[in-house]
Amino acid sequence: MVSDLQKKKPAKTKVEIKNLYKIFGPNPKAQVEKVKGGVGKPELLAEHGHVLGLNNINIKMPERAVQVIMGLSGSGKSTLIRHINRLIEPTAGEVIIDGEDVLSMGPNELRDFRRKKASMVFQKFALLPHRLVKENAAYGLTIQGIAEKEAEERAQKWINRVGLAGFENHYPAQLSGGMQQRVGLARALATDAEILLMDEAFSALDPLIRTDMQNVMLDLQEELHKTIIFITHDLDEALRIGDNIAILRDGVMVQQGSPQEIVLKPADDYVSDFIKDINRGRVLMVGSVMDGEKKVPGPTVPSDMAIEDALQVMTSAQSQSAVVEKGGKPVGSITIEDMIAAIARTEGKTEGSSAYT
Ligand SMILES: Nc1ncnc2c1ncn2[C@@H]1O[C@H](COP(=O)(O)OP(=O)(O)OP(=O)(O)O)[C@@H](O)[C@H]1O
Ligand SMILES: [Mg+2]
Repeated sequence: MVSDLQKKKPAKTKVEIKNLYKIFGPNPKAQVEKVKGGVGKPELLAEHGHVLGLNNINIKMPERAVQVIMGLSGSGKSTLIRHINRLIEPTAGEVIIDGEDVLSMGPNELRDFRRKKASMVFQKFALLPHRLVKENAAYGLTIQGIAEKEAEERAQKWINRVGLAGFENHYPAQLSGGMQQRVGLARALATDAEILLMDEAFSALDPLIRTDMQNVMLDLQEELHKTIIFITHDLDEALRIGDNIAILRDGVMVQQGSPQEIVLKPADDYVSDFIKDINRGRVLMVGSVMDGEKKVPGPTVPSDMAIEDALQVMTSAQSQSAVVEKGGKPVGSITIEDMIAAIARTEGKTEGSSAYT
């Protein structure tokens, strides 16, 4: 079966993490060899008194895409994202951004990098309570030394873009949580940073507001094409916004791939457990389960259409099959039987017996 999964072109790498280890404790460097030799997180803590934060992480995060990092609490997500702007130093390994080793940067270079190249959006918004919305949004620019007036003018554009026009002269406490996080987003965007680091940025928001914020971000991303590294606990959020998803467990990267790959081929029970409750018909796209055969009877459906929607198209056309199209050209075919099988499949051994719930 030739599906879209096999045909994806590799994008240019923006952030690369190589053989990264992070161990917390009094003498972390001395523990690396043990971890390389197979000592895992529980054993390192019990026998050697150190916490294994990250264990041999290798990942290439593509430019202009949204890279999601998922995992249970304590799996190492925050530790990983904080290596990217070097809020945390690795015990061993490399962090390479645009081909440059972040670890080799001197203090001035690092300060510039944090101010101009990588911006953070925080879970608890981290706004300055005694400054106005416009001052908060301009903050990333004023600390770069840009004059207040110019900084606020530049920030205004982003205040408008996140839907806060008219609130410039309010204080954060006068805004709802969702609006405060819009200020956080405007502040990060105003610096023109190419990389946005978002650690559970929407997790403190109510579900409806959270969906709003995802929409704001997706709309902006369509136009801005930032490299976004986004941590979340929430699979629906990950599937909605991630171009790629990486899954961490106890400091180990257990799987990375497109949402479609993760859902179709979960690497193990831990991953299966994350995806077990999703609506596969909504998440899986026609292109991921199609066949390379191009000549079949029936209507035409785009390869990025959800299976559920394609089923409706086919049922209305009273057809058992459909031609899959991409960029106006037929690229494959799909049958109702294949689609139902893809929706119904419960992966591997996980059904009813998970060690992680
Ligand atoms: N400064 C530290 N000292 C000791 N251990 C730490 C430190 N920071 C993190 N850890 C440990 O490293 C592991 C990974 O923590 P991290 O905060 O990265 O997890 P997380 O996936 O972000 O979790 P959460 O979803 O709860 O935010 C945990 O076991 C944590 O206790
Ligand atoms: Mg965290």
